[in-house]
Amino acid sequence: MTPLIEVRDLSFQYEDGTRALDNVSFKLLPGETVAVLGANGSGKTTFVLHLNGTLRGEGSIQVCGTPLTKETLPLVRSKIGMVFQDSDEQLFMPTVLEDVTFGPLNMGLTQEEAIAKAKSALEKVGMSHALDKAPYHLSAGEKRRVALAGVLSMDPEILVLDEPNTFLDPPGLRNLLHLLRDLPQAKLIITHNTHFALAVANRAVFFEKGKLMADGEVVEIMQRYDWTYSPLPADDLRYSAQRRF
Ligand SMILES: Nc1ncnc2c1ncn2[C@@H]1O[C@H](COP(=O)(O)OP(=O)(O)O)[C@@H](O)[C@H]1O
Ligand SMILES: [Mg+2]
Repeated sequence: MTPLIEVRDLSFQYEDGTRALDNVSFKLLPGETVAVLGANGSGKTTFVLHLNGTLRGEGSIQVCGTPLTKETLPLVRSKIGMVFQDSDEQLFMPTVLEDVTFGPLNMGLTQEEAIAKAKSALEKVGMSHALDKAPYHLSAGEKRRVALAGVLSMDPEILVLDEPNTFLDPPGLRNLLHLLRDLPQAKLIITHNTHFALAVANRAVFFEKGKLMADGEVVEIMQRYDWTYSPLPADDLRYSAQRRF
């Protein structure tokens, strides 16, 4: 099976000398959902920014069998839909419909075709009722869903989401979880939420100081790196009980 993403020996240094990626190799196969785990600053965002050519390091990247180069960049970008951590950075048009139509229009579709793609994507994420709303009036969960529709409207084969669970309340998180499970694309999901990772992913990778340290079962990797919030120590649980007036 041809991997959808194949990264070999990727290293990257920021201009100030920070070595953010150190010899990272990784594969994503069709149908997989991979949780990308690791501490703040371990290189997760830097890694995914290489996959659509936003950053360029040393090493090689293939997407759907195509080597990522300057020439193939538009093709690669049409295969990978990237949802950023901050939806406000991603949504910039006056209305939801215009925002989601932007991508397909940019790919050369006619206005009519682009609107059809946008409406279908908004339907998938359950946001058809908000076509004419201003994105900045939406709740965090709604913004996240519209940002996702923005990439789905371009029919990508791979979805990359950078901390999609941030700012979501429990129902918003559940909603996102079910939505992601129903989408057929292979996914790469950066998250600190261990429950979310367990519920959505069938594989995990763990970053530490720019290195990809482990690749395998989600539970196994969480146990190996003590990567869990629970159970809380008894003293922490008692703290709030003692503070009841
Ligand atoms: N634009 C930048 N310039 C310099 N250093 C950066 C920049 N962006 C990130 N870094 C550094 O690169 C490392 C990896 O960052 P990042 O990929 O954002 O980590 P993560 O997403 O895992 O929190 C960190 O040490 C961070 O401080
Ligand atoms: Mg990050």
